[in-house]
Amino acid sequence: MSHIDSFEKIPVAIFADDKQASTYVAHEIADLIRQRQNEGRNCVLGLATGSTPKTLYAELVRMHKEDGLSFRNVITFNLDEYYPIEPDALQSYNRFMKTHLFDHIDIDPANTHIPKGTINKNDIRPYALDYENKMEKAGGIDLQILGIGLNGHIGFNEPGSSRYSITRMVALDNSTRLANAYEFPNITHVPRLAISMGISTILKARRILLMAWGEHKAPIIRKAVEEHVTEHVPASILQEHHHCQFVLDETAGHELTRFKSPWLTGEIEWNEKMIRKAVCHMAFDMGKPLLMLTNNDYNNSGLSDLLVKYGNAYDINIRVFNGLRDTITGWPGGKYSEVIPRHPERKEPQSKRVIIFSPHPDDDIISMGGTFIRLKEQGHDVHVGYQCSGNIAVTDEFVMRQLHFAVEFDEIFEIDKSRATNIWNEASAFIANKKSYQKDTPEIRAIKGLIRRTEARATCQYVGLKDENIHFMNLPFYETGLIEKNPPGEDDIKITMDLIRKIKPHQIFAAGDFADPHGTHKVCFDIIFEALKRLKAQGDESIKDCWLWLYRGAWAEWDVWDIEMAIPMSPDQVIQKRNGIFIHQSQKDGVVFQGSDSREFWERAEDRNAGTAEIYSKLGLPKYAAMEAFVKWDY
Ligand code: F6R
Repeated sequence: MSHIDSFEKIPVAIFADDKQASTYVAHEIADLIRQRQNEGRNCVLGLATGSTPKTLYAELVRMHKEDGLSFRNVITFNLDEYYPIEPDALQSYNRFMKTHLFDHIDIDPANTHIPKGTINKNDIRPYALDYENKMEKAGGIDLQILGIGLNGHIGFNEPGSSRYSITRMVALDNSTRLANAYEFPNITHVPRLAISMGISTILKARRILLMAWGEHKAPIIRKAVEEHVTEHVPASILQEHHHCQFVLDETAGHELTRFKSPWLTGEIEWNEKMIRKAVCHMAFDMGKPLLMLTNNDYNNSGLSDLLVKYGNAYDINIRVFNGLRDTITGWPGGKYSEVIPRHPERKEPQSKRVIIFSPHPDDDIISMGGTFIRLKEQGHDVHVGYQCSGNIAVTDEFVMRQLHFAVEFDEIFEIDKSRATNIWNEASAFIANKKSYQKDTPEIRAIKGLIRRTEARATCQYVGLKDENIHFMNLPFYETGLIEKNPPGEDDIKITMDLIRKIKPHQIFAAGDFADPHGTHKVCFDIIFEALKRLKAQGDESIKDCWLWLYRGAWAEWDVWDIEMAIPMSPDQVIQKRNGIFIHQSQKDGVVFQGSDSREFWERAEDRNAGTAEIYSKLGLPKYAAMEAFVKWDY
């Protein structure tokens, strides 16, 4: 047994990203299908839906189209379906499976089984038993694919589900409804019930592969893999299955002991960041500031290795303390007048050209509002590149309010009002009859985009930016009118490269908030990264002095040991930032797509910024009201 095995009670395979992980799973599926074909037998697959398996299905479709993988001998059973729901509703899992897999492969539709969300409630019990019987008749599930909910659910077996449960009607946890609310216009549209295979149904599968991507899944993965088996974390019951494997991307694995405290699972390469991480961890565990840690604490925390290599606790404590101290600065664009060794930014040139890339029209102020204001006040030439229109996150009520304004504006000033009234009439008729799965008309989308643009512009004016420093990029990948975005394309990269060439920035700030549940932040980051890499490869002068800083804030925060620049904020600056966020009125008092966190964005930002400041002070560094944190990224 290796050190890792002594912590991890389920075999785990970790890949650099979800694509590589999905390819691994797709190969296992393809091998099984082909093996069965050679034996003249069927292959029975248990399938999942949700955001996780999309990359897997894309790879299976590719294998079908390019490598000739046939699904003629495949029989499938899906885990679950919302209840009640029409099969062609945008959010239905019946529709999901067609869109992502069945419509693109040669499977016989008669061989696919997905619970129906339209069964009469009284008929559900016999229907569910029949579903189980069908699985058994097909020979039982050979390979079951699973995702995992943030609360540890598998299928829709929420915490507390019995290990002996079979296919049945279940009530969705509120946390699940919140987590899945991003697919619906708002939380009230998310069904309260579902039909789901049970835990014992899942455990009967001969092989189980559970997939998870993204750092928001990391804490629950650790619980399921490393902690004890409990029905409160349904996925932990998979520890009892003899042939189950978890397939993760690196971010979903990062809470596992082998990453979180690698010094406990074997020999490691110490570097500055790892030392900082280990010592901060120890300080948190002991509830002590850095400079109070003793040799004994190091030994008791499994860190005697550090003492052997780097001297006694006193020296290591100071080294880590000074490193963290040097990340704190009130001068995010560098401090020109003074020579400060180890300052996070360069002092030259005095006035820097800066681009803040904001995926949505409010990420700049939410995630780095304090720094944004300081950069402007300290005389830098600050530009904001609003990457996406953000038009799906405006309510219909808000649109109608603005349209009323437009119509009356025309009346008051006696402007030819026929066009505005027409749009008003069309929009109100559309909105009155709109179904939850319908996408907005181009006019309504344009109005929603306009609303967000006016808010972003008002925030920039609040900070003191000139109009020519505000750039609405309207990246095309975002413009589907749906949650599901297009993959980033050449146009997105070109628009970004053009803006960078035009501004010739010394600093770029970009959202490194990869836990955004819709994936928009990650795509926006990938586009910037690709643009920078191409400009670099071309030897483009516009980025020869450009540093890339990543911020977080709307969805998650950096770990303290990763932070390379921390901008402190006074209580007044916290209020100043809050007022800047409030300008985004369409995003206040009920966010349209808010994920599993019920706080508004300004509250999340304040909690995170205060939390970062609290962490610094707990480690024995000065106590500020709030801090915004950044990581420098190589490209
Ligand atoms: C889907 C299902 C659920 C999801 C889980 C994770 O059929 O049964 O258990 O696998 O909620 O969802 P995503 O992948 O959207 O994070």
